[in-house]
Amino acid sequence: MTRALDGREKTADRLLKSSANKFYDPEVDIDWSAPLPDGSLYQLEHRCSLYGTHLWDRLTPEQRIELGKHELASIASNGIFFEVLLMQLLLKEVYNSDPTTRHVQYALTEIADECRHSTMFARFVERTGAEAYGPVPIVHRLGKLLPFIGYGPALYGSILVAEEVLDRLQRETMADERVQPLVRMVNRIHVLEEARHVTFAREEVTRGMAKLSKTELYYQRWLIAAVSFGTVRSLINPRVYKAVGLRPREAWETALANPHFQETIRWAGERIMGFLQESGLVGAPGMSLWHKSFLLAK
Ligand SMILES: [Fe+2]
Ligand SMILES: [Fe+2]
Repeated sequence: MTRALDGREKTADRLLKSSANKFYDPEVDIDWSAPLPDGSLYQLEHRCSLYGTHLWDRLTPEQRIELGKHELASIASNGIFFEVLLMQLLLKEVYNSDPTTRHVQYALTEIADECRHSTMFARFVERTGAEAYGPVPIVHRLGKLLPFIGYGPALYGSILVAEEVLDRLQRETMADERVQPLVRMVNRIHVLEEARHVTFAREEVTRGMAKLSKTELYYQRWLIAAVSFGTVRSLINPRVYKAVGLRPREAWETALANPHFQETIRWAGERIMGFLQESGLVGAPGMSLWHKSFLLAK
């Protein structure tokens, strides 16, 4: 007997079909032995955390490319950190739900996507020869709590912040010939596959918000602000600056005070923040964290 599909099941069904039609295997679809041409960028210069500062002015063109490489290695290895957390959260959902639903089957498919992405990011960092910086130790420790304290629309909303911020940064480089072909290919694969995840999570936010009590709403607003703050602050691990002979603490403080860097974060989060504001997830008691994160201008 075929069951009539409700809205949630319909979306999952459509996403399952789309996943079957279009997915990449980075092992096969990327030529990992292709050379990394000298002089090609890893990150667009105006997206580097120090762009426009007095420290940036002191760097040679080669050092600027080198810093871009290390910043991207930091972002990619943090991408693995976020995806590993997301996989745990999705597995929790699978553990607690009926596997004969399309919803759970799509959750399993998304885990498979993220598994391939994390392998791809790991391989990318390995290929560049930079370190897999990941988050700073305190964020790494706090991340372990998330599968226990996180639930509901804030959880899916936080996932969206990580996915959509990365998405906007990656999209910008995809068609830019100044950027390394390997970086563009990795980004293209990620952007294409993430579009489905964004649809899935956005609908979960909307459905989850409709069910919240007033007390839960406060907790959810705090949770998403705290996780999103941790997420965007983690993208650049201050140790990257050592690669170009800068002192991590001084360079990181300079980056945090850099209006270009603040604007990059705001711009990268612009689309998802619009959605979260409309959904009602942005509000007290999370506002100071949103402003501190630079996702919302003061
Ligand atoms: Fe991903
Ligand atoms: Fe994703």
